[in-house]
Amino acid sequence: MRDLFSENDYLSYVFPEPQYLGSKHIHRGWIAQFIPSKAHVALDAFGGSQSIAYLFKQLGKQTITNDFLSFNNHIGKALIENCSVKLDKNDVEILFSQNSNPKEFNLMEKLYSDLFFTQEEAAFIDSFRSNICMLDNPYKQSLAFTVMCRSMTRKVTMGHFAHTQALKYAADPTRIKRNRSLIRPLKTLFLELLPEYNNAVFDNNQANKSYNKNILDLLPKIENVDVAYFDPPYCNSHADYQSFYHLLETFVEYWKDKQFVNGTKRYEPKRYSGFDKNSEAIDNLRKMFELSQSIPTWLVSYNDRSYPDIDTMVTMIEPYRHVVIERKSYLAGRGGKGSVAGSNEVLLICTPRK
Ligand SMILES: C[S@@+](CC[C@H](N)C(=O)[O-])C[C@H]1O[C@@H](n2cnc3c(N)ncnc32)[C@H](O)[C@@H]1O
Repeated sequence: MRDLFSENDYLSYVFPEPQYLGSKHIHRGWIAQFIPSKAHVALDAFGGSQSIAYLFKQLGKQTITNDFLSFNNHIGKALIENCSVKLDKNDVEILFSQNSNPKEFNLMEKLYSDLFFTQEEAAFIDSFRSNICMLDNPYKQSLAFTVMCRSMTRKVTMGHFAHTQALKYAADPTRIKRNRSLIRPLKTLFLELLPEYNNAVFDNNQANKSYNKNILDLLPKIENVDVAYFDPPYCNSHADYQSFYHLLETFVEYWKDKQFVNGTKRYEPKRYSGFDKNSEAIDNLRKMFELSQSIPTWLVSYNDRSYPDIDTMVTMIEPYRHVVIERKSYLAGRGGKGSVAGSNEVLLICTPRK
């Protein structure tokens, strides 16, 4: 049995710096103080970059994480569920070899050549993708997906795919001076990032699990959770994650049954979120709270400029839980998704009524 103080052994592991709209990585120290130390099983319901799930794992909790997008689930498999598997030299050799099936694996070149990547780089992504299937371990595959997705967001201006300026910016000397990754080959970026991800893999001696579900479908299926962290998309600002990160989802899913629309070649139809449109968010948040009644403590992240407003959120939660509102103000708008200097990061601490 682990003693109380050895709980913090895992805090020396370093979560690789994410670049994801709304990532709570920079708020993890602030959020950590509100996680009940006695809670054993912790759920990160909208895992995204997995920064808070990783914090749960570091705190020694049995961690359940979830995100409805596949590329985020791969981060969860690679860094939360996985306790020991890493990518070695031999795996990298496999990943960097020739396309193992060029007839099947040419989607990235077809869609994104001369849009987000040069033709040569897009073809490299296809061959890398074909070779992920040659790795014999699912956690190795998830690590390969994760590190390549991160390499792609590092290479593309602004780290997302909701614009069509990637190649123009990659040819702009001022931008290159600010961010040399724009002109560095994906292969180099991958090799640079890989040790950070390998070193972030650790075992906290718990059976951790990553899911890829709509949270409303997952909640009825999980039991004995002590604390749930809810960080839903913020309607009003960058809520549509599929518009920003469609390319990563296409790389992972390698869709055969989708249309690719508009200038960015986003897949269509999108997955159903239920939390990314003002017209649906309130109903689904209400359902989510109703389905969470067996979980004693809820921590709900919000920003005081989002929809619905904090008062509405509190009104929805109060039938079930006592709510305390904690606020952290942004110093200079470095809050991530939708953050503006002067706005607040909000955490609702929801505990059972006495
Ligand atoms: C604000 S972000 C979470 C950020 C995360 N806390 C982090 O630190 O990176 C919201 C996440 O919710 C996911 N999402 C949206 N609708 C969902 C749904 N119905 N079920 C599960 N995840 C959903 C999005 O893919 C996105 O990653």
